[in-house]
Amino acid sequence: MSGKIDVREIDALVDAQNGRISPSIYTDPDLYELELERVFGRTWLFLCHESQIPKAGDFFNTYMGEDPIIVVRQKDGSIKALLNQCRHRSMRVSFADCGNTRAFTCPYHGWSYGTDGSLKDIPLEDRAFPHGACKEKWGLVEVNRVKTYKGLIFGCWDETTPDLEEYMGDIAWYLDGVLDRRPGGTQIIGGVHKWEIECNWKFAAEQFASDQYHALFSHASAVQVLGAKPDDEASKQLGAAQTSRPVWETAKDALQYGQRGHGSGFFFTEKPDANVWVDGEVANYFRETYEEVKERLGEVRALRLAGHNTMFPTLSWLNGTATLRVWHPRGPNKTEVWAFCIADAEAPQEVKEAFERSATRAFGPAGFLEQDDSENWVEIQKVLRGYKARNNRLIMEMGLGNEKVREDGIPGITNYIFSETAARGMYRRWADLLIHEKWEDVEKAAEAYEKELVK
Ligand code: FES
Ligand SMILES: [Fe+2]
Repeated sequence: MSGKIDVREIDALVDAQNGRISPSIYTDPDLYELELERVFGRTWLFLCHESQIPKAGDFFNTYMGEDPIIVVRQKDGSIKALLNQCRHRSMRVSFADCGNTRAFTCPYHGWSYGTDGSLKDIPLEDRAFPHGACKEKWGLVEVNRVKTYKGLIFGCWDETTPDLEEYMGDIAWYLDGVLDRRPGGTQIIGGVHKWEIECNWKFAAEQFASDQYHALFSHASAVQVLGAKPDDEASKQLGAAQTSRPVWETAKDALQYGQRGHGSGFFFTEKPDANVWVDGEVANYFRETYEEVKERLGEVRALRLAGHNTMFPTLSWLNGTATLRVWHPRGPNKTEVWAFCIADAEAPQEVKEAFERSATRAFGPAGFLEQDDSENWVEIQKVLRGYKARNNRLIMEMGLGNEKVREDGIPGITNYIFSETAARGMYRRWADLLIHEKWEDVEKAAEAYEKELVK
């Protein structure tokens, strides 16, 4: 670890019991270094979707934290994740966003690796290494664990991290609301939008885990435009909710889930078309598939089309809008957003295209909702350049003490949607990972925290 931080001080930065947080968690370069080691070096991180690398030799370039990673389909159909770093002088060996190849050849001195990562060829090997080259030992470094969950591929460096499904815990139930709607599963539609924003990755991850509250105010103008005129033909075309009253007034219930760093929130709507962001074809598709999905997942998840979610640390998604994204960290003050459009594989082609348009319009780099969100995070990051601001503890008390375990089959620790249970849980998890060297201690700390929450 970095050695510059006394881990005992980290505990004081996140006072989840009282709902206080120190803003230095978003700005401190030493904390960031420790995050790369203990959060990104130890958690299950989303790599890509199986549909993006269907055939042997197909690869997709991504990151685990700041480490460049090649995800590649093997000849036997299995998947490997390789550190995209030549063993000779650290050059990247694969540059394309994705593609199909038989080898990864380093552009610096030409060492060539197979798709399994093994070093196959060294130019002028006999003359350059008269003492003998250890090719069998000089393959690309492989990510220790790669697992898929219903089409999503995850990687983890740490052998001691709990298995993927145990790590996911109850967020899997919420994620199934996107991944498991229909028998054919899902696929990624189109390419990946990538852009940078000048803020810490945790603002984005936290908001998707925990913050429906901002939508009332930050997205007020968009909500008014899309939802205000129930009988207006244009609103119908857009699939606007058939009411002029906001969803938080009309929904029969609403919840936030937050546990082990993960979080989710949604309203219990009455109709399968109550998502104001989606356009006509997408809303129609949700209506048409409603009965089938209800049969598979139950009414709550079949109706849950406006949910926000984060699987700790950096995978977030929105139901209905079909955006799935990763917040790649780029130093304490910058994030690279990668936004994928995800949809049911069995949806007709024109519906898939409509999903892509809808996701891009609302949550692409110039999306009308994305703009509202990132504007907030970027401005906060600027405010936190101030010394006083950085040392002024922030209030995270919403719904404090109101956590409960529901009795209607919806899993996990929950609260009313306008609360900060998931945010407190996310930062507590973050702090526990930074503080504890052993996973068993991280889990023990989580159990103790949760026991206090729902006595
Ligand atoms: S750095 Fe890759 S061959 Fe030299
Ligand atoms: Fe938002």
